[in-house]
Formats: sequence, structure tokens, C-alpha cells
Amino acid sequence: MLLKVVTAIAAGIVAWLVYFVRDLISKRRKLAGLPQPPMKNLLLGHLEIAAECQTVFPRGVHSHVWADYIREKWKLPETFYVDWRPVGPLWLFIADPELSGEFITTKQSLPKSQLETDYLELFLGKNNMVSVEGSHHKSLRMMFNPGFSANNIMTYADAIVEASLRFFDVLEKKAKSNELFEMEEYATRLTIDVIGVAVFDADLQAQKGLHPIVQHFRERVQIMPAADRPFFWQDVQPTRPFRLWWNNRKLNAAVDAELNKKIQRRAKDLEDEAGGIVKRKKKSIIDLALNTYEKEMAMGQNIQSGDSINRITDSSAVPAALRQDLIDSIKTFFFAGHDTTSSALSWCYYLLHRYPETQRRLTAELDGFFPPGTSTAQKIRQDPYIINKLEYTTAVLKETMRIFPSASTLRQLKSKYPANHTNFTDPRTGTQITLEDTHIWPAVYLINRNKRIFPRPMEFIPERFLPDRTPFPDADLFKPAGKNAFQPFSVGPRNCIGQELAMIEAKIVLALTARELDFVLEFPGEEADPQPPIPESSAAEVSEETEYGRGVREGRITPKVIEGHRVWQTLKGSAKPAGGCPGRVYLRRRG
Ligand code: HEM
Repeated sequence: MLLKVVTAIAAGIVAWLVYFVRDLISKRRKLAGLPQPPMKNLLLGHLEIAAECQTVFPRGVHSHVWADYIREKWKLPETFYVDWRPVGPLWLFIADPELSGEFITTKQSLPKSQLETDYLELFLGKNNMVSVEGSHHKSLRMMFNPGFSANNIMTYADAIVEASLRFFDVLEKKAKSNELFEMEEYATRLTIDVIGVAVFDADLQAQKGLHPIVQHFRERVQIMPAADRPFFWQDVQPTRPFRLWWNNRKLNAAVDAELNKKIQRRAKDLEDEAGGIVKRKKKSIIDLALNTYEKEMAMGQNIQSGDSINRITDSSAVPAALRQDLIDSIKTFFFAGHDTTSSALSWCYYLLHRYPETQRRLTAELDGFFPPGTSTAQKIRQDPYIINKLEYTTAVLKETMRIFPSASTLRQLKSKYPANHTNFTDPRTGTQITLEDTHIWPAVYLINRNKRIFPRPMEFIPERFLPDRTPFPDADLFKPAGKNAFQPFSVGPRNCIGQELAMIEAKIVLALTARELDFVLEFPGEEADPQPPIPESSAAEVSEETEYGRGVREGRITPKVIEGHRVWQTLKGSAKPAGGCPGRVYLRRRG
């Protein structure tokens, strides 16, 4: 009897395996003739290439680096497939911003890929704004848009100045003690201080010590499945579900507590305003979201203008669905906003030291607006809109985010959200591209290395964004084809709600620190400021033609560098600097 059962199970497994393999091979055959790297074996797909990428690049590198390597090495067009099935997805990479806008993100905006939504729902909750779709997304966006508007963000300039001055003090102390530290850690604390003010109008004092929200968030990042291990079996942890659940309880309680405090402060403000005592100019994102919610409710109940609308003045009066939306959204703002901006700042300091001429030009611009001997902080407080005039500073930040983009969007066809186009013709190659069964990655990293739009893409040239100073006036960036080519914040209806905050914050931080401080990259136990040569591409860097490439392929050299940068990108929620961007900071002597 037992033998019969075992035989039946074995036969079932064999039949399933045969079916699975035949199905996989038939799916791969359908890809024949489409743009993709060579596939030597229909069973393995492109997994052989994954093995090569694991050899030539440092462990933990962001997979968009692999995608760029594959495109460069096999001279693939701007739209191409990579098949990691059955251990990963069938990817459709798009490095053409026009096609991506037309069919993926803007004119036709496809739903987010399940790879992205599964991760974010586990991390942030089901109501997080990055992954919800349809009417739920529209209502969240409508509720939160007013708080993120450029004009409202300007009212936080004062608080951003304050946070930047605290950041400067921290770095000044480190310069004086010559401490080796991770820049990203301290830039992150700065951005948390800013988010605390913007979201709740609360001083979280993150630069002094870790606020519970931040503490629980960090714990959560550690517990989450690692996004940088290509194969799931490299990261199995049986206790993970329980640890995530426990951490979620603590995190939600900490966010809830801050939300309740905010609602109490708002109740007091409303009372004061009603009594004509004060009218505060600065409104937090939660204040404005509640205002919008209350107005919507009033419209739903047909309350005429002039009648007083019901205000939420007590946390027990917040309906459960709204509370969940608010809690998940607050977590989303912390997640999406803090390490993206801090990574951009960390890389910016690194690049400014590496490109002294750019540093000099940045200093010249800042000196023009904030002459030495005057208080930059005071001037920004008096006239925050002066920040919008810093063209070169903006170009430096854009160029930093071009080389080191923090995030991208992943999309997928989903039957619940029917699409008008499930395929398109790539006009450059005439190939019919199907979107079916793929995870679509209009990878900002690839777009940013597209030579039509950004010539000499490996080089740090902020002037390329300034039409009157660009060395590349004929680049597609300045043609209709390049209209939305620069998209570190994504484009279309799912673009980044926090982009104004990020840019205004980063510019204020640079205005208050970049002239005084010089950050020099130094990995513990390694020589400071290594400055490896900048290659033509990552594929050229590790090709067998170079001593370095031969060395890593033969196992003589441990790969540490990508595109000439020792501080490359690793995926931890967003793309972050490897090792936290370690180094020392020096006070600049100004002549
Ligand atoms: C340098 C800084 C930042 C970068 C590079 C960045 C980048 C992005 C990108 C690429 C997306 C699209 C993601 C996707 O489609 O899956 C996005 C969405 C989003 N970002 Fe940012 N972001 C930054 C700062 C911020 C800040 C400061 C906040 C808020 C405090 C924020 C909040 C969000 C939210 C809520 C979304 C989802 C928007 C929606 O789907 O409607 N981001 N961001």
C-alpha cells in the first residue's frame, strides 16, 4: 500500500516536472527573435548571465546595474527582455522614456507590478499610497496633494534651515574629531527631522537620538526579506512572519501616538483660529489632509457653504478607514521620503569632492546669492523662494540623481485593470514588443545612461541640464523626445508626491553646508579617496580586455568598484550607497 502511494506521488511529481519544463521551454520559444541577450540553453534561460553578473559585480549590488551591463555587453536596443524564470520574473526593460511614457507610465499608466506591491504591502501596510490602485489611489492623492504643493513646502523652509544647521553642527564635530562615519546615517537623521515637521509639524529630534518610529522602521528593514538576494533560498527565515507582525504592532502604535498628538494640536489651533487668536501660516501635511477630508465629507452630506463643517478635533472621532489610510500613508512618507533624499545628499557630497571644478562652480553660485560674511540661514528664512533661483545647485543635484537614481517604478498588466495596449512596436527596431507575462521596468538607471539623451553618461557633468551651458546642445534631452527623459521621481499620475520637498530640502542643505564641508570617501581599512578611473560603461570596466575585468573573472580580484565608483548602489528598500557612504569630513578653508 505504502509503496503504491509513494509510486503515485513520485509519478505525479515527474508528470508535473515534465509539464513544467515543456511549458517553460515553449514560453521561451515564443521570445525567439525578440531583443534579449543570447540564450544558450532553453531550460536555463538567462540564468547563466545571472551567474556572470554575480561574478563580475560586488555582492549586493542593485540589479539595475546588472541590466545596464547586459544591455551594454550585448549591444541591446532600448527595449529588451531578460528571462530569469523560473527563479525570477521575465523582465521587460525599457530605456526609452518616450515609449515608457506612451505605454507604461503616463498616457497609459499600468498598475504596479506584484513584485513591488507584495513587498510594500508587507512593509508598509495594504493602504500604502505607492501600491494602491484606482479610486483608492485617487482619493489618497487628492487628500495629500495640498500638503505637498510647492507653495506649502516653502512654508517649511524655516524648519528645513533649522534641521540643516543641526546637521552642520553634527558634521562639524565629526570634522574636528576626524571621525570615520557613515554619511548616509546622519543625512537620514536630517531628513527624518524634516519629514517630522512636514508630516506632523513635530520636532522628532532624530539628529539627537532615534525616535521610536525610526527605531521600529529600521528594525523592520532588517527583518524584511532581502531585496538584494536574487534567489529566494538565500534568504529563508522561519521566524520572519512573527517578527514582522510584532514589529508592525510597535510601529503602528508609535505612528498612532504621533497622529493622536497631532490631532490634539490641530484641535487647539482650530479653536484659536475660531477665536481669532492666531492664524498659523505653516500647515502640516496631516493638517491639510484632514481639511480636505472634512470638506469632502461636507460635500457628500450636501452641507452648503457658510454652514460649519464637522471638524475632527478628537482622535476618537477619526473613522477607522481614515485612521488606517493615515497610518499607512505616514509610514509611506517616512519610508519613501527619508532614505531617498539622504542617499542623494550622500552621493552629492561624494561627487563634489571627486569633481573639484564642479564644487568651485557650486560655491561661486552660492556665494553670488549668499555672499560670504552674511547669514545664509537668515536670508533663506526671509525669502525661501530664493532657493528656486539656484540653477547650478539644482543641476548638481539632478546630475547626482542621474548617476545614482534612488528609485524606479515596476509595472505589470493585470486583468483587474484592463489596458488599451498590451503590445507596441518599438519604432527604433520595428520589433513588436508584448507586455504580457512580463514585469515591466522602465528603469531610470537605464534611461539615465541612454547616450541619445545623456551623452558621455558615465561623466558627472551638471552643465548638461543647463540649456545655455550644456556641452551637448544636440542631445535628445532638448528635443521633444527628451521631454520627460529625466525622471528620477518617475512621471505620470504615479509620480513622486514628495519631489518638491526633496528638491527644496536638498538645495537648502547644500546651500548651508556644501561650501564649508568637504566629504572624503573612505571605507574602513581601505585607502581614503581611491578615485578609480571612470570607464565608458560598466561592461567596459569588467570586460576581459581590462586587467580589472580579467582579474574579477579569474577570481584574483574581489570586485569592489562599479563605473569607477567605490560607493555603488545596493537595494535596501530604495537604492542606497554601499556601506552607508563611509568617510571623513573636513572643514574647508575659504580664501
Ligand atoms: C530624492 C528623493 C526622492 C526620490 C528620488 C523619489 C522617487 C520616487 C519614485 C521613483 C517614485 C515612483 C515609485 C513607483 O512608481 O513605484 C516615488 C513615489 C512616491 N514618493 Fe518619492 N522620491 C523621493 C522623495 C520623496 C519624499 C520626500 C516623499 C514624501 C515625504 C516621497 C513620497 C512618495 C510617495 C508617497 C510616492 C507614491 C506616489 C503615488 O503613487 O501617488 N518621495 N518617489
